Amino acid sequence: MIVLGIETSCDETAAAVVTDGRVVLADLVLSQDAEHRRFGGIVPEIAARAHLDHLDGLVARALATAGVSAAELDGIAATGGPGLIGGVIVGVMTAKAVAAVHGRPFIAVNHLEGHALTARLTDGVDFPYLLLLVSGGHTQLLVVEGVGRYRRLGTTLDDAAGEAFDKVAKMLDLGFPGGPAIERLAATGNASRFTLPRPMKGRPGCHFSFSGLKTAVRQALAEAPPSDPRVAADLAAAFQAAVSDVIEDRTRNAIAAFRALHPHGSALVIAGGVAANRPMRGRLSRLAAATGMTLFAPPPKLCTDNAAMIAWAGIERLKLGLVDTLDFAPRPRWPLDPSAPPAGLKP
Ligand code: KG4
Ligand code: ZN
Repeated sequence: MIVLGIETSCDETAAAVVTDGRVVLADLVLSQDAEHRRFGGIVPEIAARAHLDHLDGLVARALATAGVSAAELDGIAATGGPGLIGGVIVGVMTAKAVAAVHGRPFIAVNHLEGHALTARLTDGVDFPYLLLLVSGGHTQLLVVEGVGRYRRLGTTLDDAAGEAFDKVAKMLDLGFPGGPAIERLAATGNASRFTLPRPMKGRPGCHFSFSGLKTAVRQALAEAPPSDPRVAADLAAAFQAAVSDVIEDRTRNAIAAFRALHPHGSALVIAGGVAANRPMRGRLSRLAAATGMTLFAPPPKLCTDNAAMIAWAGIERLKLGLVDTLDFAPRPRWPLDPSAPPAGLKP
């Protein structure tokens, strides 16, 4: 089985070709960082136009790299949501066109399911597993019980973890995207110089909150001596340590909740752009070891947005006969666990 995947839900235009033998034949990602950098964040209209300009050429290149023709595809999968709707429409329309021309099935993939199933592509992890999904748009702990079968244990009450990285990076003038820049600078900083809060740490449950931490960073920056060249690195280190503390604490609770549901489950999977953060991976790997879990962390390239994960989720759905019709409507919102109660202030 060979599937083409298309990802356009945020600021990466991506196309990939993957086989059901877990082989990635092509995995191309065009970042729009340069287009958005001067705005310090993603501008949805610019993103949609850039996807439109680049996607056709990228799909052709992905097929050429994989050495397959469109007629040889068993299915065409595209992110159908959630995400910036202009971009999602571009990806879905392109996938539908290829599917219609070649008479192949079209599969609308939930972007979060793409992240969630990546560890099955890279490591063949069996269901059930515990998933920590930490990206620019989402921060969730989920029990993954099967394709399309998710139980949400926790989510963020305000900002996503990656969003907090991006906002703090902006305050420190580190550019966009912020995560990798903070990680680089933090490596040279002294995390103990600033005392920052750890929102939600020590509380029951698995919910997250990052907006208070962001405000604390802003305050510490305002009070720090402006001429001290060490401030940015020390604050970056203190911020990264605080986020890691919170994520470790929430994940520890989630492991207990996961074990209560699945006493024999032992896999902890991380996904999403923030999961590319090396100190965070180190923390989670120690937590996994201490709690008898095995950590699966896809390579950073497959943690950040990509189309291989969309093609793979397409394969998983295709195998189960879960295909979509050409009247599928792109979805700006699409929760993985629609039955989860909204995250209130009291988790
Ligand atoms: O999964 P992703 O590529 O896109 C979304 O679906 O959101 O995640 C992007 C987010 C951005 O907020 C970026 O700053 C963050 O992931 N990120 C990182 C790192 N690399 C990317 N955060 C912390 N450390 C990193 N090394
Ligand atoms: Zn993502």
